Amino acid sequence: MRKKIVAGNWKMNLNLDEGQKLTSEIVNMLKDEHVKDVTVVLNPPFVHLYPVKKLIGDTPNLFLGAQNCSDKASGAYTGEISAGMLASFGSKYVILGHSERREYFKESNELLTAKTRQALDNGLIPIFCCGEPLEIREAGTHEDYVKQQLTESLFGFSPEEISKIVIAYEPIWAIGTGRTASSDQAQEMHAALRNHLAGKYGKEIAEGISILYGGSCNPSNAREIFSKPDVDGGLIGGASLKSRDFVEIVKSF
Ligand code: G3P
Repeated sequence: MRKKIVAGNWKMNLNLDEGQKLTSEIVNMLKDEHVKDVTVVLNPPFVHLYPVKKLIGDTPNLFLGAQNCSDKASGAYTGEISAGMLASFGSKYVILGHSERREYFKESNELLTAKTRQALDNGLIPIFCCGEPLEIREAGTHEDYVKQQLTESLFGFSPEEISKIVIAYEPIWAIGTGRTASSDQAQEMHAALRNHLAGKYGKEIAEGISILYGGSCNPSNAREIFSKPDVDGGLIGGASLKSRDFVEIVKSF
Protein backbone atom coordinates (compact mmCIF):
# COMPACT_ATOMS: atom_id res chain seq x y z
CA MET A 1 0.00 0.00 0.00
CA ARG A 2 1.56 3.27 -1.12
CA LYS A 3 1.86 6.18 1.33
CA LYS A 4 -0.58 9.07 1.59
CA ILE A 5 1.62 12.17 1.82
CA VAL A 6 0.96 15.89 2.33
CA ALA A 7 4.10 17.99 2.01
CA GLY A 8 4.31 21.71 2.66
CA ASN A 9 6.65 23.75 0.48
CA TRP A 10 7.28 27.04 2.28
CA LYS A 11 9.34 28.32 -0.65
CA MET A 12 11.31 31.50 0.27
CA ASN A 13 9.00 32.63 3.02
CA LEU A 14 8.97 33.25 6.82
CA ASN A 15 11.66 34.53 9.16
CA LEU A 16 12.80 32.25 11.96
CA ASP A 17 10.17 33.42 14.46
CA GLU A 18 7.36 33.00 11.93
CA GLY A 19 8.64 29.56 10.94
CA GLN A 20 8.81 28.40 14.53
CA LYS A 21 5.30 29.74 15.22
CA LEU A 22 3.89 27.94 12.16
CA THR A 23 5.66 24.69 13.03
CA SER A 24 4.50 24.78 16.66
CA GLU A 25 0.91 25.34 15.57
CA ILE A 26 1.04 22.46 13.09
CA VAL A 27 2.65 20.11 15.65
CA ASN A 28 0.00 20.94 18.26
CA MET A 29 -2.86 20.52 15.80
CA LEU A 30 -1.57 17.17 14.53
CA LYS A 31 -1.15 15.93 18.10
CA ASP A 32 -4.61 17.13 19.20
CA GLU A 33 -6.64 16.17 16.13
CA HIS A 34 -7.23 12.70 14.75
CA VAL A 35 -5.35 12.40 11.47
CA LYS A 36 -5.59 9.18 9.50
CA ASP A 37 -2.36 7.45 8.50
CA VAL A 38 -0.94 10.35 6.51
CA THR A 39 2.75 11.19 6.20
CA VAL A 40 3.24 14.93 6.70
CA VAL A 41 6.42 16.68 5.54
CA LEU A 42 7.54 20.24 6.25
CA ASN A 43 9.94 21.66 3.67
CA PRO A 44 11.24 25.00 5.04
CA PRO A 45 14.08 27.14 3.71
CA PHE A 46 17.48 25.82 4.80
CA VAL A 47 17.90 28.32 7.66
CA HIS A 48 14.85 26.83 9.38
CA LEU A 49 15.99 23.20 9.32
CA TYR A 50 17.42 22.99 12.82
CA PRO A 51 14.65 24.76 14.77
CA VAL A 52 11.90 23.05 12.77
CA LYS A 53 13.45 19.64 13.38
CA LYS A 54 13.63 20.37 17.11
CA LEU A 55 9.97 21.45 17.17
CA ILE A 56 8.85 18.38 15.19
CA GLY A 57 10.46 16.24 17.87
CA ASP A 58 8.77 12.83 18.04
CA THR A 59 5.46 13.92 16.51
CA PRO A 60 4.09 10.80 14.80
CA ASN A 61 4.09 10.79 10.97
CA LEU A 62 5.61 14.31 10.79
CA PHE A 63 8.96 14.65 9.01
CA LEU A 64 11.47 17.31 8.03
CA GLY A 65 12.25 17.84 4.37
CA ALA A 66 14.07 20.47 2.30
CA GLN A 67 13.49 22.29 -0.97
CA ASN A 68 16.63 21.38 -2.91
CA CYS A 69 20.09 19.84 -2.70
CA SER A 70 23.31 20.00 -4.66
CA ASP A 71 24.16 17.56 -7.43
CA LYS A 72 27.59 17.28 -5.81
CA ALA A 73 28.57 15.40 -2.65
CA SER A 74 30.90 18.13 -1.28
CA GLY A 75 33.57 20.63 -2.32
CA ALA A 76 34.17 24.12 -3.65
CA TYR A 77 30.58 24.94 -4.58
CA THR A 78 29.89 28.21 -2.82
CA GLY A 79 26.36 28.58 -1.57
CA GLU A 80 25.37 24.99 -2.19
CA ILE A 81 23.88 22.56 0.36
CA SER A 82 24.62 18.84 0.00
CA ALA A 83 22.24 15.94 0.50
CA GLY A 84 24.57 14.66 3.21
CA MET A 85 24.26 17.91 5.11
CA LEU A 86 20.45 17.73 4.89
CA ALA A 87 20.50 14.15 6.17
CA SER A 88 22.73 15.22 9.08
CA PHE A 89 20.12 17.87 10.01
CA GLY A 90 17.46 15.15 10.12
CA SER A 91 15.77 15.80 6.78
CA LYS A 92 14.05 12.66 5.44
CA TYR A 93 12.69 14.16 2.21
CA VAL A 94 13.94 16.64 -0.38
CA ILE A 95 11.97 18.39 -3.11
CA LEU A 96 13.79 18.20 -6.45
CA GLY A 97 12.98 19.65 -9.85
CA HIS A 98 10.41 22.17 -8.72
CA SER A 99 9.24 24.19 -11.74
CA GLU A 100 10.55 27.37 -10.14
CA ARG A 101 14.04 25.88 -10.00
CA ARG A 102 13.75 24.59 -13.55
CA GLU A 103 12.69 28.06 -14.72
CA TYR A 104 14.76 30.47 -12.62
CA PHE A 105 17.87 28.31 -12.11
CA LYS A 106 17.74 26.44 -15.42
CA GLU A 107 17.77 22.99 -13.83
CA SER A 108 17.81 20.38 -16.60
CA ASN A 109 16.47 16.84 -16.52
CA GLU A 110 20.11 15.69 -16.60
CA LEU A 111 21.08 17.81 -13.59
CA LEU A 112 18.06 16.48 -11.73
CA THR A 113 19.28 12.92 -12.30
CA ALA A 114 22.49 13.83 -10.47
CA LYS A 115 20.56 15.54 -7.65
CA THR A 116 18.29 12.52 -7.29
CA ARG A 117 21.37 10.30 -7.13
CA GLN A 118 22.81 12.43 -4.32
CA ALA A 119 19.54 12.30 -2.41
CA LEU A 120 19.19 8.52 -2.69
CA ASP A 121 22.87 7.92 -1.83
CA ASN A 122 22.37 9.90 1.38
CA GLY A 123 19.17 8.17 2.43
CA LEU A 124 16.83 11.02 1.50
CA ILE A 125 13.47 10.44 -0.22
CA PRO A 126 13.24 12.65 -3.32
CA ILE A 127 9.93 14.39 -3.97
CA PHE A 128 10.52 14.69 -7.71
CA CYS A 129 8.49 17.47 -9.33
CA CYS A 130 7.19 17.46 -12.88
CA GLY A 131 4.54 19.38 -14.78
CA GLU A 132 3.72 21.23 -17.96
CA PRO A 133 3.43 24.93 -18.82
CA LEU A 134 0.09 26.31 -19.98
CA GLU A 135 1.00 26.37 -23.65
CA ILE A 136 1.75 22.64 -23.57
CA ARG A 137 -1.55 21.90 -21.85
CA GLU A 138 -3.39 24.00 -24.41
CA ALA A 139 -1.58 22.17 -27.21
CA GLY A 140 -2.77 18.84 -25.78
CA THR A 141 0.75 17.39 -25.54
CA HIS A 142 0.95 17.58 -21.74
CA GLU A 143 1.11 13.83 -21.07
CA ASP A 144 4.05 13.27 -23.42
CA TYR A 145 5.80 16.36 -22.00
CA VAL A 146 5.59 15.21 -18.40
CA LYS A 147 6.37 11.57 -19.22
CA GLN A 148 9.54 12.82 -20.92
CA GLN A 149 10.58 14.57 -17.70
CA LEU A 150 10.38 11.27 -15.86
CA THR A 151 12.05 9.30 -18.65
CA GLU A 152 15.02 11.65 -18.94
CA SER A 153 15.59 12.18 -15.22
CA LEU A 154 14.55 8.97 -13.52
CA PHE A 155 14.50 5.97 -15.84
CA GLY A 156 18.18 5.25 -15.31
CA PHE A 157 17.53 4.28 -11.69
CA SER A 158 17.07 0.67 -10.60
CA PRO A 159 13.67 -0.75 -9.62
CA GLU A 160 14.75 -0.67 -5.98
CA GLU A 161 15.78 2.98 -6.27
CA ILE A 162 12.70 4.19 -8.15
CA SER A 163 10.55 2.53 -5.48
CA LYS A 164 11.93 5.04 -2.97
CA ILE A 165 11.00 8.13 -4.98
CA VAL A 166 7.84 10.23 -4.55
CA ILE A 167 6.51 11.98 -7.67
CA ALA A 168 4.78 15.38 -7.48
CA TYR A 169 2.77 16.44 -10.52
CA GLU A 170 2.49 20.22 -10.49
CA PRO A 171 0.94 21.77 -13.61
CA ILE A 172 2.84 25.04 -13.84
CA TRP A 173 -0.32 26.93 -14.82
CA ALA A 174 -1.87 25.96 -11.47
CA ILE A 175 1.04 26.96 -9.21
CA GLY A 176 0.28 30.06 -7.19
CA THR A 177 -2.48 31.09 -9.59
CA GLY A 178 -5.60 29.95 -7.80
CA ARG A 179 -6.40 28.03 -11.02
CA THR A 180 -6.37 24.52 -9.64
CA ALA A 181 -6.41 21.55 -11.99
CA SER A 182 -9.73 19.72 -11.82
CA SER A 183 -9.71 16.41 -9.97
CA ASP A 184 -10.28 14.69 -13.34
CA GLN A 185 -7.30 16.50 -14.88
CA ALA A 186 -5.15 15.45 -11.93
CA GLN A 187 -6.35 11.84 -12.11
CA GLU A 188 -5.78 11.70 -15.86
CA MET A 189 -2.14 12.77 -15.55
CA HIS A 190 -1.43 10.72 -12.42
CA ALA A 191 -2.78 7.58 -14.12
CA ALA A 192 -0.72 8.32 -17.24
CA LEU A 193 2.44 8.71 -15.15
CA ARG A 194 1.73 5.54 -13.19
CA ASN A 195 1.22 3.64 -16.45
CA HIS A 196 4.46 5.14 -17.75
CA LEU A 197 6.31 3.96 -14.64
CA ALA A 198 4.67 0.52 -15.02
CA GLY A 199 5.88 0.27 -18.60
CA LYS A 200 9.46 0.69 -17.41
CA TYR A 201 9.43 -0.96 -13.97
CA GLY A 202 6.35 -3.19 -13.92
CA LYS A 203 2.88 -2.75 -12.43
CA GLU A 204 3.77 -3.79 -8.88
CA ILE A 205 6.48 -1.16 -8.47
CA ALA A 206 4.40 1.54 -10.20
CA GLU A 207 1.46 0.83 -7.91
CA GLY A 208 3.70 1.38 -4.90
CA ILE A 209 4.92 4.85 -5.88
CA SER A 210 3.12 7.82 -4.27
CA ILE A 211 2.13 10.51 -6.79
CA LEU A 212 1.20 13.87 -5.24
CA TYR A 213 -0.70 16.75 -6.81
CA GLY A 214 0.48 20.34 -6.43
CA GLY A 215 -0.93 23.61 -7.71
CA SER A 216 -3.35 25.84 -5.75
CA CYS A 217 -4.43 22.95 -3.53
CA ASN A 218 -6.40 24.24 -0.54
CA PRO A 219 -8.92 23.08 2.09
CA SER A 220 -11.86 23.62 -0.29
CA ASN A 221 -10.58 21.41 -3.12
CA ALA A 222 -8.21 18.93 -1.46
CA ARG A 223 -10.85 16.32 -0.55
CA GLU A 224 -12.13 16.05 -4.13
CA ILE A 225 -8.61 15.86 -5.59
CA PHE A 226 -7.37 13.36 -2.99
CA SER A 227 -10.43 11.15 -3.61
CA LYS A 228 -9.08 10.14 -7.01
CA PRO A 229 -7.53 6.65 -7.20
CA ASP A 230 -4.11 7.73 -8.48
CA VAL A 231 -3.77 10.84 -6.31
CA ASP A 232 -1.85 10.00 -3.13
CA GLY A 233 -1.73 13.44 -1.55
CA GLY A 234 -0.46 16.92 -2.23
CA LEU A 235 2.55 19.21 -2.43
CA ILE A 236 1.25 22.43 -0.94
CA GLY A 237 2.64 25.93 -1.39
CA GLY A 238 0.67 28.95 -0.22
CA ALA A 239 -1.74 27.01 1.97
CA SER A 240 1.19 25.42 3.86
CA LEU A 241 2.00 28.81 5.36
CA LYS A 242 -1.29 28.81 7.31
CA SER A 243 -1.38 26.13 9.99
CA ARG A 244 -5.13 25.58 10.03
CA ASP A 245 -5.37 25.40 6.22
CA PHE A 246 -2.42 23.01 6.01
CA VAL A 247 -3.80 20.68 8.68
CA GLU A 248 -7.25 20.75 7.06
CA ILE A 249 -5.60 19.59 3.84
CA VAL A 250 -3.84 16.81 5.79
CA LYS A 251 -7.27 15.74 7.09
CA SER A 252 -8.80 15.73 3.59
CA PHE A 253 -8.42 12.02 2.80
O1 G3P B 1 5.50 22.97 -4.46
C1 G3P B 1 4.16 23.32 -4.27
C2 G3P B 1 3.83 24.58 -4.98
O2 G3P B 1 4.47 24.69 -6.21
C3 G3P B 1 2.33 24.78 -5.15
O3 G3P B 1 2.11 26.12 -4.86
O4 G3P B 1 0.88 27.97 -3.83
O5 G3P B 1 -0.08 26.74 -5.83
O6 G3P B 1 0.02 25.61 -3.58
P1 G3P B 1 0.65 26.64 -4.50
